[in-house]
Amino acid sequence: MIIGRPMFTVEQIQDKVKELASKISADYAGQVLIAVCILRGAFIFFADIVRAIKVPMTVDFIIASSYIKTDTSAQVKIHADLREDVKGRNVLLIEDIADTGITLNYVREMLLSRLPNSLKICVLLDKKERRVVDVPIDYVGFEIPNEFVVGYGLDYDNKFRNLPYIAIFKKST
Ligand code: IMP
Ligand code: MG
Repeated sequence: MIIGRPMFTVEQIQDKVKELASKISADYAGQVLIAVCILRGAFIFFADIVRAIKVPMTVDFIIASSYIKTDTSAQVKIHADLREDVKGRNVLLIEDIADTGITLNYVREMLLSRLPNSLKICVLLDKKERRVVDVPIDYVGFEIPNEFVVGYGLDYDNKFRNLPYIAIFKKST
């Protein structure tokens, strides 16, 4: 297993987090948010961005994972649901990466069925060329090429989440 050099350094990530947070703070001025973290991958990004968003909020967590069936189909499993009721509230879903879009689409549809006042999505990374489901994303940190990345919460086999920067991961052959 090889971890390449950083795709995004700690500093680049922190600058991007601040930039996203100020857009979000401006867009939600005068409103109250419920920020929803999709665990596990988003935990570090979530912790950083909520501290930079300047509107009142509550936080909640959902644990989701997707199992690849084929290249274009996956099954999403919800391991733990929200504690709070999102009905009538302004939900901001925060995810580490949009890849096929299947996970975000599933969670989005599930939460929309609970009738929030609004629902927006924020992702740090967007692997646009891999998209299978067209899910609307309101805030994107970085668009990245079709490479597998680890660090800053993102894992390979549940490892490397604690790497402070984001790096391309390659399996040694
Ligand atoms: P989806 O394909 O958009 O449903 O993404 C599902 C999940 O796959 C994401 O939430 C990530 O946890 C994971 N994932 C996708 N691409 C990567 C990657 O490059 N590195 C680590 N995890 C990834
Ligand atoms: Mg994830």
